[in-house]
Amino acid sequence: MSSEAVDIGRLARAQPEMRALDRAFYQDSAIYERELERIFMRCWLYAGHISEIPRVGDWFLYELDRESVIVIRAAEDRVNALVNVCRHRGSRVCVERRGSGRRLVCRYHGWTYDENGALRAAAHMGEDFDAGDLALKSIRCELIAGMIFLNFAGEPASLETAQKELGACLAPYDLANARVAHRQDYPMNANWKLAVENYCECYHCAPAHPEYSRGHALAHPKEKSPEAYERVHEKAVACGLSPRQLDRKYLDAPAFGAGFGYYRYPMIRGHLTGSRDGQPVAPLMGEISDYFGGCTDLDIGPVTFGLAYPDYVVLYAFKPLGRDRSNCDITWLVRGDAEEGKDYDLRELTWLWDVTTEADKRIIEHNARGVASRFYEPGPLSQMEYYSAAFLRWYLEAMKD
Ligand code: FES
Ligand SMILES: [Fe+2]
Repeated sequence: MSSEAVDIGRLARAQPEMRALDRAFYQDSAIYERELERIFMRCWLYAGHISEIPRVGDWFLYELDRESVIVIRAAEDRVNALVNVCRHRGSRVCVERRGSGRRLVCRYHGWTYDENGALRAAAHMGEDFDAGDLALKSIRCELIAGMIFLNFAGEPASLETAQKELGACLAPYDLANARVAHRQDYPMNANWKLAVENYCECYHCAPAHPEYSRGHALAHPKEKSPEAYERVHEKAVACGLSPRQLDRKYLDAPAFGAGFGYYRYPMIRGHLTGSRDGQPVAPLMGEISDYFGGCTDLDIGPVTFGLAYPDYVVLYAFKPLGRDRSNCDITWLVRGDAEEGKDYDLRELTWLWDVTTEADKRIIEHNARGVASRFYEPGPLSQMEYYSAAFLRWYLEAMKD
């Protein structure tokens, strides 16, 4: 599809409510470039968990589009996000996915930086060479309960409210001291929005996810069964969880890309957690004293979601890998002192969300192939897709002129 042909603002304004997107939004290269600038270069993006870089000097790479960032532990309480572009002639400095050491050495000509990005060594540069203004560039990096978020914007939307409010709600899980039990990429041959739209609705759950549907209600739990909702809410509070729920503020325009939500609901058929049989798969997290028969949905920014069960937390971070490729990066968090093989079996811990995400990947890729057809025409959304519709509304707002 030629990019000159598309007037993006007009297309975004013409898009009807509660209807799938026009094909151009999934295929046009100018639209994709605008998404990168307006969304991915402005929103807070989940990069990893603090337990993945436990010692000063530990680092991993976060990559998005043409950008690469070295996420490095610089002190007990500080994480830096250094742009992985050498200040000499621009080579990538770090090329492995992760590493450790207080010196970052560019392999091209040996320029050497410290964990704060300062240039510490550069050979044969002459007497009057000034290393002072040749530090690695950095982008904003903030923590919410041990979760590391990055923002490429010079002046990003403040994350303070999310840190405070979400941090307080998540405190009983003690995520800052939790540990990554497993992290896995699920790359898909589909535009990133098809993956997010799919995540935001459970219209597909009955046909696609028999494993998930055994323990999770598919329709809005508060409306479907208010008594069960109240009961579980009260029990959750008795188990040490926050009495607060946070409305999904995803769509707040002033907090562009910094919205968040924390929303609890009952599980069904006696399931205590998200597992093969609904039985616990890991020790209770943090200060939580018991299973309460429910779980909690999280939203942090537009492309990071989570599900907090009493015994583990699973995080989903979506990103584009091009116009028609995307990735869902899944992280399973358990209590910091839980030991694999003794306190949990990794296969059982990851079973539900692996099987569910593999199924999602299949249906999302089928969706992508259909949307690419000349015969594709956007159809109406169901009531069960209200949250995908909210995502699309937010998205179109971001894309308008
Ligand atoms: S490009 Fe890094 S040292 Fe030359
Ligand atoms: Fe799904």
